[in-house]
Amino acid sequence: PKVVYVDDAGGERAVDASVGESVMSAAVRAGVPGIIGECGGCLSCGTCHVWVREEYRDQLGELGEMEDDLLDLAVGDRRAGSRLSCQIEVTAELDGLVVDVPGEQV
Ligand code: FES
Repeated sequence: PKVVYVDDAGGERAVDASVGESVMSAAVRAGVPGIIGECGGCLSCGTCHVWVREEYRDQLGELGEMEDDLLDLAVGDRRAGSRLSCQIEVTAELDGLVVDVPGEQV
């Protein structure tokens, strides 16, 4: 499945992700700028923040409590579509998922 990452200048980058990996790990593997995934997906860094486009939000699992807390600390404004990309599992149904990536997360 493809995941499309859009940077803060509107540039799109489509990555071939594998079913079962996270939207964070696909981005890190492909070197998508702005997604760092410092903690490796264990919900402690917040450097994998993305804004999920509205049309895909319903297909994702619920926001977890720890994810919720960490999003308050993440770099980049918290918006309606804010998620930690390490908590989004790539599935065949999510093919074409579009997420916006904050400019910097350090
Ligand atoms: Fe650290 Fe997602 S990679 S919270």
